[in-house]
Amino acid sequence: MSYETLAADSSRPGEPTAILEDYERACGTFDWDETRRALGRPPAGGLNMAHAAVDRWVVNGLGNRIAMRFISRQWERRNYSYAALSGQASRFANVLDGLGVAAGDRVFTLAGRIPELYVTLFGALKFGAVYSPLFSAFGPEPVAARLEIGGGRVLVTTTSLYRRKVLPVRNRLPALEHVLLVDASGAELPPGTRSFPELMRAAADTWRIPPTDPEALALLHFTSGTTGKPKGAMHAHEAVVAHYATGRYALDLHPGDVYWCTADPGWVTGISYGAIAPLANGVTMIIDEEEFDAARWYRILAEERVNVWYTAPTAIRMLMKQGKELAAAHHYDRLRHLASVGEPLNPEGVVWGKEVFGRPFHDTWWQTETGAIMIANFRGAEVRPGSMGRPVPGIEAAIVRVRRDDEGNPVAAEPVTTPDTEGELALQPGWPSMFRGYLGNEARYRRSFADGWYLSGDMAKRDGDGWYWFVGRADDVIKSAGHLISPFEVESVLLEHPAVAEAGVIGLPDPVAGEVVKAYVELKPGHAGGDELALQLIGFARKRLGAALAPRSIAFSSQLPRTRSGKIMRRLLRARELGLPEGDTSTLEQGK
Ligand code: WT7
Repeated sequence: MSYETLAADSSRPGEPTAILEDYERACGTFDWDETRRALGRPPAGGLNMAHAAVDRWVVNGLGNRIAMRFISRQWERRNYSYAALSGQASRFANVLDGLGVAAGDRVFTLAGRIPELYVTLFGALKFGAVYSPLFSAFGPEPVAARLEIGGGRVLVTTTSLYRRKVLPVRNRLPALEHVLLVDASGAELPPGTRSFPELMRAAADTWRIPPTDPEALALLHFTSGTTGKPKGAMHAHEAVVAHYATGRYALDLHPGDVYWCTADPGWVTGISYGAIAPLANGVTMIIDEEEFDAARWYRILAEERVNVWYTAPTAIRMLMKQGKELAAAHHYDRLRHLASVGEPLNPEGVVWGKEVFGRPFHDTWWQTETGAIMIANFRGAEVRPGSMGRPVPGIEAAIVRVRRDDEGNPVAAEPVTTPDTEGELALQPGWPSMFRGYLGNEARYRRSFADGWYLSGDMAKRDGDGWYWFVGRADDVIKSAGHLISPFEVESVLLEHPAVAEAGVIGLPDPVAGEVVKAYVELKPGHAGGDELALQLIGFARKRLGAALAPRSIAFSSQLPRTRSGKIMRRLLRARELGLPEGDTSTLEQGK
């Protein structure tokens, strides 16, 4: 079935017109410096993300506007005005000061969508510390690896997450001096922790943001590669310029809008578009503390009068699975713009949006490294279902053919001009939210560039009119429910099990989650594969990695395919599992 291009949405009565109405003109006139100026300057000078997103609204007399509306599991609403968030963030900056934290130190959270997470984020930014979120569904291993690489000095979390995920690995984290628990105080505090609310109560609610160099580091977001440890992508304060601009152009955020981003704040989307971009645009964010629930989500969209909704393909497919009838319980007459990110969005999903909400989903593309949306379908332009859209104004993208040396390092990148030709999606560096490096891994950072292009690791095509179409990843990284999973991180944990000699981990296609994790395991002599051991291994992996990363299924093999240098050939495992052509097997060890 082919899908026809959908004409640009027309505004309904009372709706503002699209911010980006004329794509070509916007691209021609766009200027990062002009955008930078729109964000104002903190009194002490420089450019501070927390000032641009939160404090400047207070300074401009809009402090009473609601910045965040939390919806608890029991559906109690809790509002935080911009002024209240600003004051709480100032308190937290004072807390950090009192703890002896220095500018540039890393402050982590391990939490779900709780107010303290946002207070920590903006407090750390005001203070000049670097903020890094950890996904609350991670197990102790991924938590430890990221805190270790990041040299986390402060961690804000809950008592239960602390006991389950941090305590078992705390002796590996000598840099972690301060653990602040949001839900404990006094005698109930576990040893080695302090009370977040007690420290906050004792701190002043005013803080003068020190002059912040726009290049000073603000955020550390971990992402996964195919080999080696997680990579900490570093972002500077000036990234907020890109958050603000893309919030306007790609999400069509108008000041005063009600906006809902469903991403978890443990990942980059939940920070870039679940906190910074929306607040920099002066909207009211809806933050639902509950996990996915179709009926609840429809109710939120309708009752909270959401104008702009940013969600993900897995969620859209889960909604689709439950049928249109469930959606019909409400009217969505305030819903103006629907957008999606994180994984390929099927054309069926785009069109389903139109059928159920009267608006199509607008796919957008970006990565942890790019910090902000790079390619998008715009509200004011036609939508090509199945396409990621076109580069946002200020961004130059290309499809490039990459030449690599024997070790796989890129040595040359040449733009492909013929339309509909597959190549690697590349970007011209220079936009404000471009990552500034991988913490402690300069070599890996350098390998992301060739001939002046940033290489995304995604394969794509561009059609004759400039629309980009996703083809697949160039590497073995797994995308499951929008989360990037490193096969290496999963393999490393499986190898710790006494029965496992070798492990190869791949992503298998899944109709809802996009991909699910499957592990192939070679056992040590004396161990026999079977359902029982498979369950044991899954349990073992879940305990250490958490449910989000652990394999869903395990297969035993007496001989995994390896290269002559001993590396497991994941690509071949996948091809064999799916009955695809095996491709180039010239490096395969003989007889496998
Ligand atoms: C990878 C980046 C999405 C930003 C936050 C997560 C895949 C992203 C799309 C899309 C197809 C997509 C790519 C990309 N991806 N958006 N619209 N269509 N694939 O960032 O965890 O660093 O993941 O997600 O493979 O490289 P991330």
